[in-house]
Amino acid sequence: RRRTTVLRRRAVLATVPVALAALIGATAPTAPGTAGAPGAGDPYFPLSGNGGYHVRHYDLTLRYDTTTRNLRGTAVLSARATQRLSRFDLDLTGLTVTGVTVDRTPATFRRDGQELVVTPPRTLPAGGAFQVAVTYQGTPAPVTDPDGSQDGWIPTDDGAFVAGEPQGAMSWFPGNAHPKDKSSYDFTLTVPQGRTAVANGELLSEHTTHGQTTFHWRETRPMAAYLATATIGTFRVERSTTPDGIQIYNAVDPREASAAAPVLKQLPAVLAWESKLFGPYPYRSAGAIVDHAPDIGYALETQTRPVYDSAPDLTTLVHESAHQWFGDSVSLTSWKDVWLNEGFATYAEWLYSEQHGGDSAQKTFDALYASPASDALWAYPPADPGSGKNIFGTPVYSRGAMALHELRRAVGDRDFFRILRAWATGHRDGHGTTAQFTDLAERLSGKRLDGLFHTWLFSKGKPNKA
Ligand code: ARG
Ligand code: ZN
Repeated sequence: RRRTTVLRRRAVLATVPVALAALIGATAPTAPGTAGAPGAGDPYFPLSGNGGYHVRHYDLTLRYDTTTRNLRGTAVLSARATQRLSRFDLDLTGLTVTGVTVDRTPATFRRDGQELVVTPPRTLPAGGAFQVAVTYQGTPAPVTDPDGSQDGWIPTDDGAFVAGEPQGAMSWFPGNAHPKDKSSYDFTLTVPQGRTAVANGELLSEHTTHGQTTFHWRETRPMAAYLATATIGTFRVERSTTPDGIQIYNAVDPREASAAAPVLKQLPAVLAWESKLFGPYPYRSAGAIVDHAPDIGYALETQTRPVYDSAPDLTTLVHESAHQWFGDSVSLTSWKDVWLNEGFATYAEWLYSEQHGGDSAQKTFDALYASPASDALWAYPPADPGSGKNIFGTPVYSRGAMALHELRRAVGDRDFFRILRAWATGHRDGHGTTAQFTDLAERLSGKRLDGLFHTWLFSKGKPNKA
C-alpha cells in the first residue's frame, strides 16, 4: 500500500516544474533527515540502545594487554537506517575514541556521557545500509548498575571476566546496546600467548605469532549486545561434540577445575533434557567459561557459552542453559519483562529437580509460599519490578517461577509444556513480551487466565492461594 502512495506522489511531482518541486520540498533528496534517538525507549534504562538504525553485524577486532589492562580495538558495524538519519548515537562509556568513519569516510563525533554521537558526512537514506567503524583504546572499567552490582569488562588477576547484563556491553565496544536490537558477531581477539580469549559461537581459528595469540570467534545467530563476551584468562580448554551434534568448548580456570569437572560433565545431558522440554537447542555450539573472579557473585548466560565467576553447581548450570532458550533466543524488548528470562530459568531449575529425584516443583512452590508476607519475595510483582535496581531481585526469579507454576496448575501439564515449547520455538532468534506470552497461554489452553496473571505477575504483595 505504501509503495503505491510513493509512486503516485512521484508521478504528480514529475508533472510539476522543477523549481516548484523544490519549493514543495518534501521529497527533495536534500531533505534534512533527523537525529536518531539517544535511547531505545526502555523505561528502566532510557539511554540503552539507540534509535534510527539496526545493527546487522558487529566485527570486533580487539587486543588486550593483560599486564597494563589496555584494550585497543576497532569495531565495524554493518547497519541499516530505519529513518532518514542526519546523526546517530552509539553506546560507549569510558575509553578514548580515536576515529570514526561512516562508509569509509571520516565522520564527526563527540562524547556525551554514555553516548558516542556520530554525524556522518552525508545524511543516510531511510532503509539504506551503512557501515560505521570506530577505533578506540583505553583501560575499560566495569559499569555499576542501579542495584550496586558491576557488569561489563571486569579485570581479573589473569585477564578479564566479561559479562554485560544489563548495561555492560558499552564498557568494551560501541553499539546499539539494547536487547531490542540483535545482531551477528565476529570477534578477533589478540591476547598474550598462554592466555585464552573466549567469545560466543564457533571458534574459526587460533594462531600465535610474536608471543601473541589471536582467536577468531563467530556468532552467526542474532544476539543481544549484553550477551556478548570476550572473557580472557589462563584457561584449560576442553572440546567435544554431543550426540546431538552440538560442539562443546569449555574454558576453565585451573583453580576451579576440580570443582567444575563433575558439573560440566553433565552439560550434554542438561542440554538434551532441556531440548526435550523446550524444543531444539537454538545454537550449534555450547560450553562454559569458568573463571576465577571472586568479587562478582553471579553467572551470565552469554550466548552459547555462559560465563561463571567460579565453578558452578548443577542448578546454576541448568539455569544458565535454560536461558539459551529463554532470554538469548527469545529476547526481551524491555527490561521490565525480565521475569521472562529469570522466572523461566528458575522454573527450569525446579523442573530439573522434580524430574531428577529431587523436590517437586510443588514442594519448592509451597516452601516459598510459606515465607511471611513481609518477606523480600513479595516486595514487588515480577512483571512490574518498578526500576532497574529490582530486575535481579527474588520477586523476578522466584515469584516469576511461582507464576509459571500457577499457570501449570491451571492449564495442566500437557498444555503447560505445549505453551513453553511454543514460546521458545515461535519466537526463536527473536523477541517476546509479557503480553505475547499471556496471550499464547490463553490461546493454547483455551482458558481465560487474566485473573491468574493479574494476581501472580502484576499484583503487589503476597497473593492469596487460589
Ligand atoms: N542473568 C544472570 C542470571 O540470572 C544474572 C545477571 C546479573 N547481572 C548483574 N549485573 N547483577 O543468570
Ligand atoms: Zn538467570
